[in-house]
Amino acid sequence: MAPPMIQSPSAPTPGLTTDTRGRPLRDLRISVTDRCNFRCVYCMPRETFGPDHAFLPRDEILSFDEIARLVRVFTRLGVTKVRLTGGEPLVRRDLETLVGMLRADPAIADLTLTTNGSLLAARAPALASAGLNRVTISLDALDDPTFGRMNDARFPVARVMEGIQAAEEAGLGPIKVNMVVKRGWNESAVLPMARHFRWSGRSVRFIEYMDVGHSNGWRLDDVVPASEILAMISAEFPLEPMAPTERGEVARRYRYTDGGGEIGLIASVTQPFCGDCVRARLSADGRLFTCLFAVAGHDLRSLVRSDASDGEIEARLRRVWNLRDDRYSELRSAETLDLPKVEMSYIGG
Ligand SMILES: C[S@@+](CC[C@H](N)C(=O)[O-])C[C@H]1O[C@@H](n2cnc3c(N)ncnc32)[C@H](O)[C@@H]1O
Ligand code: SF4
Repeated sequence: MAPPMIQSPSAPTPGLTTDTRGRPLRDLRISVTDRCNFRCVYCMPRETFGPDHAFLPRDEILSFDEIARLVRVFTRLGVTKVRLTGGEPLVRRDLETLVGMLRADPAIADLTLTTNGSLLAARAPALASAGLNRVTISLDALDDPTFGRMNDARFPVARVMEGIQAAEEAGLGPIKVNMVVKRGWNESAVLPMARHFRWSGRSVRFIEYMDVGHSNGWRLDDVVPASEILAMISAEFPLEPMAPTERGEVARRYRYTDGGGEIGLIASVTQPFCGDCVRARLSADGRLFTCLFAVAGHDLRSLVRSDASDGEIEARLRRVWNLRDDRYSELRSAETLDLPKVEMSYIGG
């Protein structure tokens, strides 16, 4: 069921676009669809996202023109990084067209895509020609039995590898590979992943399994802490920390001391990074979420489908951001666990 909407205040707020904690708005993640061809156990478990699941109807999903218009307004507030995600963004037809439309906006310095890689091999050249800068590809294991259990769609590793290869050849590197680690499911794949991607120029980001949504039945016991992942890898390949390159960088980066490349650790559960969060999310049906764990979104679809001018939309966005106070991960506790939350596939991972 769609989460409740917040009625956004309408009076414009002059001044800097920072929130109540002084955090600017820099990154926008856009979910272009809530659908996916995988059923990852930590994201869209089959029991919830089965054949009867009600995905968003087509007319409720923002068109490419509506997305591009909203993005243009977001850039006036300071957004310079845009990531297309979902659901699986490549199941949305003609995504290259949207990439081209966004590319036309000179304010966007970094235009990226997060994908499960399943459809990437054939699409990488067109995405690159349309102006995509980089891709991040999710891959939770290197062996088919483990990967198949995680994606629950029997999708083979080799096809994702073809996607990675094609993306690199199309110039969509440097490639980042996202691996969610779930206790008892794929922590045995951590070292094989580290070994495989060393010296490849591709950096693996090991992600703590997060309590997004309700369908995945998250328990703290299922989380493999980033410190444990770090200890596992550095016992075989010594690592040293790297300085962050920008504000709001979610991954803590480490480099192999022998020069074999770098890894990232995304420790959103054990070492939350709310203090530096410069990210907003736009759901496929046009709601703005100021936190991955926000209970409700601000309805931008009705605004963009009304006769509101860009200036009025800008004023609304500025006001929402000025009032932002979210820091769910820092406050995570037994009480917050029971709060209503939206699914990652809907809000955009
Ligand atoms: C929601 S997916 C959307 C994009 C694309 N379908 C993919 O899988 O890359 C974006 C990222 O969120 C991650 N993710 C999904 N559910 C998660 C969870 N419960 N905890 C941590 N990461 C999660 C995925 O592994 C993926 O890297
Ligand atoms: S993580 Fe990505 S690929 Fe997996 S179910 Fe969620 S949206 Fe689909």
